[in-house]
Amino acid sequence: MVWERLIREELSTLVPYAPGLREEQVRERSGRDDICKLSSNEHPAGPFPSAIAAMSRELPELNRYPEGACMALRERLAVKHSVPVEQIAVGNGSNELLRLIGQAVLRPGDEVVYPWPSFIVYPMVTTMFGATHVKVPLTGGIDYDLDAVLAAVTDKTRIVFLCNPNNPTGTIYTRDAFERFLSALRDDIVLVLDEAYFEFVTSEEYPDGLDYFDGVRPVAVLRTFSKIYSLAGLRIGYGIMPAPLVHAIDCIREPFNVNSVAQAGALASLDDEIEVCRRRTENQEQKTYLYSGFDRLGIEWVPSEANFVWIRTERPVEVFDALLEEGVIVRGFGTTPALRVGIGTPEDSRRTIEAFEAVVARLGSV
Ligand SMILES: Cc1ncc(COP(=O)(O)O)c(C=O)c1O
Repeated sequence: MVWERLIREELSTLVPYAPGLREEQVRERSGRDDICKLSSNEHPAGPFPSAIAAMSRELPELNRYPEGACMALRERLAVKHSVPVEQIAVGNGSNELLRLIGQAVLRPGDEVVYPWPSFIVYPMVTTMFGATHVKVPLTGGIDYDLDAVLAAVTDKTRIVFLCNPNNPTGTIYTRDAFERFLSALRDDIVLVLDEAYFEFVTSEEYPDGLDYFDGVRPVAVLRTFSKIYSLAGLRIGYGIMPAPLVHAIDCIREPFNVNSVAQAGALASLDDEIEVCRRRTENQEQKTYLYSGFDRLGIEWVPSEANFVWIRTERPVEVFDALLEEGVIVRGFGTTPALRVGIGTPEDSRRTIEAFEAVVARLGSV
């Protein structure tokens, strides 16, 4: 077949990303109208009012290409994070930045080290650029073991991906563990600190990646507008990284990789720190509510610093399906004995516990 010769061989093991079920699909399947979609770690409240207003103002201008360098947003982020503007990259989601970093630095045969399970895009990027996967299992399937990550580093390691809080477990590694790790890690390895859920964190032990960023060492701190800022549909995220890496990304990215509506929405969102705090507090309250509901039902859960909770179940597929029947969409990971339950509105949380109650009644246990 001609395509076998045409398409790069290393892509043959990749499969398209499988998004969670859409609400319409579950509505049809369950026959219920009130669907809670808690499968993609989205924020339930929607964009900030200031962002909606700014985005609406962009609409009549959509005949024009966006400002390709995202300069206004970069300048605003540079001030917010006290770094030079040359150290800010903006992407079509932080997802794009993960890929662009891979594209900028990986050669076939390089090794990429990442704890696992974690965000699916790390293995995708590794495969895409012909690099070798070095997966480091989470302790007990839950916690990062940064000593093991360090032990997995070799002369060939080019990138280490760390996700803090980790998707899908919601756990964090602590400042102490990270400082030990960082001081022992070779400083010619690109260390990508994926902090997509940064704004939800309340733990005092959390190491803010930016505290360890000096603009010289090859550290890239990635954040997104998709989560607490509720702009997932727009696709916009950013990274703080040394200027040579930003420059390389600028050279290989699409000329207009971030659309104008996204730039406007993101910029306006940065003005509302009060709303960020309010959402963080509300997220925390919803988690507390879910934890007590899970306790009551004998469901084992893992304390989360993000906007989702990892629960244990010996029959993930059955429980996932039973929850769908109740109109609640969570995220399953094949036969991994766990499910990831997103945090939604207070009403979603109430429905989630009600759904789990029904599932326990039906299956005997979760
Ligand atoms: C850990 C992690 N990193 C990055 C992303 C990508 O976010 P974005 O929407 O900015 O591409 C996600 C999205 O779910 C994520 O969970």
